[in-house]
Amino acid sequence: MPYAYDNLIVEVADRIATVTVNRPDKLNALNSDTERELQDAFGKLPDDSDVGGVIVTGAGAKAFVAGADIAELSGLGATQGKEFAFQGQATFTRIAQCPKPVVAAVNGYALGGGCELAIACHLRVASEGARFGLPEVQLGLIPGHGGTQRLARIVGMGRALEMVLTGRMVAADEALRWGLANAVAAPEALLDTARELLGQILSKGPLAVQYALEATLRGADMGLDDGLYMEATLFGMACGTDDMKEGTKAFLGKRKPEFHGR
Ligand code: COA
Repeated sequence: MPYAYDNLIVEVADRIATVTVNRPDKLNALNSDTERELQDAFGKLPDDSDVGGVIVTGAGAKAFVAGADIAELSGLGATQGKEFAFQGQATFTRIAQCPKPVVAAVNGYALGGGCELAIACHLRVASEGARFGLPEVQLGLIPGHGGTQRLARIVGMGRALEMVLTGRMVAADEALRWGLANAVAAPEALLDTARELLGQILSKGPLAVQYALEATLRGADMGLDDGLYMEATLFGMACGTDDMKEGTKAFLGKRKPEFHGR
């Protein structure tokens, strides 16, 4: 069993891997063991041919992930703190750069490292009671797993600064208005809503989805000329796939395409 972990549950069904952070007694706070397990899982999921996309969620009704484990954080000095942040960033960057679509099903508090985990995922579905927040300044800290960088890219600088500087929690409906959540669902419908969203993506050409993800995410960190050049290169690669021949032929033949990821 490739995904045997102490703090994560990984289940694969219908081409979707559901990764559940499983420390409900601690509101799924990310201790270093859990972060290592996330890093390991997202090292394997891209190569798992049974998996087309991933859902990340938290165990229990209360929290997605309530942050890095404050008990562990409290003992860090300057050098260890920097190393801690580098390691967490590497884990979350692995999630952000996953070549398969990753949807966060935010089932409650997504605070600190939990909010950073959610924004490292490509899309977010929130349950009605979910709360997003970066409360690190309340601890005399700053976000260290990408929050000061990724949030502004999603919600814009003004809203990101408001969250980073005040630590205020943003409710699901506000997150939806901000584009921080792509959809809001009743708690009991959350996972199905995430599966439906992922299902829409998985019905498309898998290589096209991979190239589109790469072009959009990498392009956000490039100048326009370089981004357009990359887009043209990936467009050309898509044109070289059997899936593109099938997709265009199916459209012209007025039938549903059958993609094989080739
Ligand atoms: N790290 C470690 N433990 C945490 C945690 C975290 N980030 N968040 C919650 N827990 C633990 C609590 O210490 C408590 O453990 P205990 O039962 O052994 O005392 C348990 O999870 C339940 O949390 P509790 O605070 O009692 O729940 P609550 O409903 O009163 O409050 C929160 C919920 C989310 C508002 C509150 O737990 C909180 O503010 N957590 C910290 C959020 C944070 O600052 N995250 C950023 C970290 S960088």
